[in-house]
Amino acid sequence: MRVVVLNGPNLNLLGSREPKVYGSVTLDELERQVASWAGSLGVEALFLQSNHEGELVEAIHDASGSDGIVINPGAFTHTSRALGDALQSVAVPAVEVHISNVKERESWRAVSLVSPACVRTIYGRGIGGYRDAIRHLVNRAAMHYETMRYGPHPDNVGDLRLPSAAPAGLVVLVHGGFWRHEHERDSTETLAVDLVNRGWATWNVEYRRLGRGGGWPGSGQDVRLALDYVSQLPAVDSTPVATIGHSAGGHLALWAASRPTALPAALVVGLAAVTDLSSLASSGGPGSGEAKRLLAAGAPPALDAPSSTLLVHGEDDDVVPVSQSSRLSDRARVEIFPGLGHFDLLDPTREHWLTVFAVLETAQN
Ligand code: DQA
Repeated sequence: MRVVVLNGPNLNLLGSREPKVYGSVTLDELERQVASWAGSLGVEALFLQSNHEGELVEAIHDASGSDGIVINPGAFTHTSRALGDALQSVAVPAVEVHISNVKERESWRAVSLVSPACVRTIYGRGIGGYRDAIRHLVNRAAMHYETMRYGPHPDNVGDLRLPSAAPAGLVVLVHGGFWRHEHERDSTETLAVDLVNRGWATWNVEYRRLGRGGGWPGSGQDVRLALDYVSQLPAVDSTPVATIGHSAGGHLALWAASRPTALPAALVVGLAAVTDLSSLASSGGPGSGEAKRLLAAGAPPALDAPSSTLLVHGEDDDVVPVSQSSRLSDRARVEIFPGLGHFDLLDPTREHWLTVFAVLETAQN
């Protein structure tokens, strides 16, 4: 797979340009890093940076033979109909990337003339956004999926992926990202693709997040709505076999499963799940500010484990402490994996996934 990575005006100054906003990595270092991420995903990445709109338009035309475009159009994002038209004109999926959180800066930066022509917009994740963009293109190319609406808000959508034969069951996936709006369901797509390749159907759900009408109770309510919608999904058994949530998504999955009227999910899997907002809030570490916001809005301080729960955590997790899983070890099956970090749990080639999959198969029978 070949992906063209385009950077627009002023991005040649990365490293020295407003480092508080864009970080200290130079364009050269960024391209080397992205090439290495692409390589590990089996992708050849080709790079171009230009300060000239016409040159970027032509680079998009030239990319028409490639399998994907990743584009950070810089300030042209907010002004250029020509770039939007160019992306619309080539039959190549494009992902728009912004290093900074364009939705939380000047209001004009929140407007993009390019995103309607892109299959996804990734922002506010630093240079990791380029890796996530390539990973999304890889997962898009892997198999067809249908995006379906389960509620009234634009974020009330999910992606349904079906195996070629009758599915072994359905897995509902709930992504993490400390309930923040810049983190979306692309993070759980690699797990979805793997599960479908193993014969399962997946419903990878989006939900309202902090900064986009979510937080508490909105995010949790949406996940419950998405679970209720399972009975309306075509071609799958109406009973979800499992809900798998990563990080804050684990928190939402555990909470959603705790209601008495919950659909009978045979299994809830928390991957590096947040289970105790109070201790996260008082930790002062990642997610503590968001946990405080959720608690102030009335979210339950600590969650219990529903009757059939598997909690998986990497011992090297420096985002969500292992204690968030181990505190429930007398209520749930807890598996701690040495050598794995927070995001490794989103990689189905890592050792924990065999355990998750084995438990999933048992739950199905
Ligand atoms: C940017 C955001 C744009 O608003 C800005 O004009 C840029 C960089 C980003 O990567 O965050 O040049 O695209």
